[in-house]
Amino acid sequence: MRQKIVAGNWKMHKNAEETEDLLNELIDKLPHDIEAQIIVAPTFTNLASAVDHLEFTNIGVAAQNMSQFESGAYTGEISADMLKSIGVNTVLIGHSERRAYFNETDFILADKVTTALKNNMTVIFCFGEELKDRQNKQHFNVVENQLRDGLFHIKDKDWEQIVLAYEPVWAIGTGETATPDQAQEMHRFIRETVRHTFGSNVAEDVSILYGGSVKPENAKEIFSKTDVDGGLIGGAALKASDFAAIVSSI
Ligand code: PGA
Repeated sequence: MRQKIVAGNWKMHKNAEETEDLLNELIDKLPHDIEAQIIVAPTFTNLASAVDHLEFTNIGVAAQNMSQFESGAYTGEISADMLKSIGVNTVLIGHSERRAYFNETDFILADKVTTALKNNMTVIFCFGEELKDRQNKQHFNVVENQLRDGLFHIKDKDWEQIVLAYEPVWAIGTGETATPDQAQEMHRFIRETVRHTFGSNVAEDVSILYGGSVKPENAKEIFSKTDVDGGLIGGAALKASDFAAIVSSI
């Protein structure tokens, strides 16, 4: 069933102590009686302590990345099994910063998705067009290709473990947000693209999150759109009161 989700991507912020402080603040400030799933994604070194810390709360923990390989001589990499062994069962794959700065191609991302699913993990699959794509009116094509090349090799039943996160690159960390109508237009297109290949049940059940400069001031209007099922929050997820306000807007 389609679920409301608000996830915070902490990126490369917060050391061990700062992570604990933010988690404590979140436990204090986040609403407890909310239907939406709440997720935070601290950096690798703080995942285990976050899992411990959040054990008896309604806040889940996700990793920001993982290797496409199961194990072996891959210095510096983190495997699905390693994440699962510390209680992390959800992973972001395909964030635009991974694509842009770490050369993660659709081909690599498709492998990461396969490995995550094989290990029974939930994937928050991120994608979105760059500014030049929108200016050239190529945004629908770009998004469709990212979905087809990175994700659509999966089977119907795998969709239970997939969450989509549309994040236009031009709106990430820039303070510029897609208008609620732009978000709805693209989310509708994404759902129709999924429907076309995997059918109506899959399309209606998949949660599609919006990401890109979501703040307490704009969250409610964006979340009110029919095909927007929540958000992936960067900057505003680092401030407990802002993240709590965004979660309360769902
Ligand atoms: P932002 O980041 O909210 O700071 O724009 C969103 C993201 O990168 O997931």
